[in-house]
Amino acid sequence: MIKIAIMASGRGSNFKSIHQHIIDGHLKAEITLVISNNSNCDAINYAKDNNINTLHISTKTHYDEKTRTKVLLDTINENNIDLIVLAGYMKKLPIELIRKFPNKIINIHPSLLPKFGGKNMYGMNIHRAVVEAKENESGVTIHFVNENYDEGQIIDQAKVSLDPSDSAEDVAQKVLAVEHSFYWKVIAKICNDLNPTL
Ligand code: GRF
Repeated sequence: MIKIAIMASGRGSNFKSIHQHIIDGHLKAEITLVISNNSNCDAINYAKDNNINTLHISTKTHYDEKTRTKVLLDTINENNIDLIVLAGYMKKLPIELIRKFPNKIINIHPSLLPKFGGKNMYGMNIHRAVVEAKENESGVTIHFVNENYDEGQIIDQAKVSLDPSDSAEDVAQKVLAVEHSFYWKVIAKICNDLNPTL
């Protein structure tokens, strides 16, 4: 079984949806660890309620950056993690982690990258920018994480059509629904590539 670590900072709806697909038997993998910089976010609370190991790591838990990186790498090692899945993780990953897991760290971004990516493009900022640019479509990008944010190799994308009357909130809702139906499928493909005998 492929062992997944989820990294999330907030609501955790993507994490919950991936976990549900595992429970339903659609995705043959195991979420072994949930890592967050926020000890009281929904993602961490849900992990605890479901007996999934958690790691809270932030400047509050370890002020020193080197120690934070070491604790993060050690915990990932101890849990024998094969794949790291970012799902709304708001902190930059240490370069040591990115180098240690080439092509084994993925992220979901709620736009059709390279459009609406990069600095300040997170949360509702993205959907507001999409509406302002009068785009007739938006969507979801799953990509590998490399040293430059939102610039890692794109693995797959899913589009949603937009209506001229859509508000940023409407776009957010449409895109999130696609995130939930799409992320687990991409993860399933990657798990299969990592271990085709499963
Ligand atoms: C999602 O829109 C994801 O694309 C982005 O952060 C958001 C996380 O939402 N990277 P949730 O915490 O999974 O509900």
